[in-house]
Amino acid sequence: MQRRSLCRIFSVIAICLLCLVLVPAVSGCSKEPSASEKRGESLYTFNCYDCHEENQLGLLKAPPKLHRIFSHHNLPDGTTPATDESVRQVIIYGKRTMPAFNGRLSNDQIDDIIAYLHRK
Ligand code: HEC
Repeated sequence: MQRRSLCRIFSVIAICLLCLVLVPAVSGCSKEPSASEKRGESLYTFNCYDCHEENQLGLLKAPPKLHRIFSHHNLPDGTTPATDESVRQVIIYGKRTMPAFNGRLSNDQIDDIIAYLHRK
């Protein structure tokens, strides 16, 4: 009798441990950043961070935060759909007080930044 209840307790513990391992694996929480996302993070830190995180130039219209930018329907301007292509256009051509990065970042580098923004 006692052995059976011990067994039951152990199987409950085993199932709990299994859940702890499986849930993050399935939900992707423990996913390591890809090589592209890591490159994108350094490119972002070097080219975008000063404005988008700190507004170090003190622009009157502070650049918007880009966290979870792809989880919203539109970009911060409120009218452009938030897609890889629209973000690419902003990076290449700039927008109002945001400078154009055309010729300063390669297509691959822009892809890396976009990959990073998907994770950020
Ligand atoms: C000199 C400062 C500055 C730098 C550097 C800068 N931005 Fe911006 N960015 C801005 C400003 C200001 C806006 C807001 C433009 C507006 O809508 O008036 C903006 C807007 C944006 C938007 C939203 C556009 C929209 O339609 O709402 C994205 C996306 C963006 N920037 C990405 C980037 C990325 C990626 C980088 C780095 C490669 C970068 N920016 C570098 C100033 C900057």
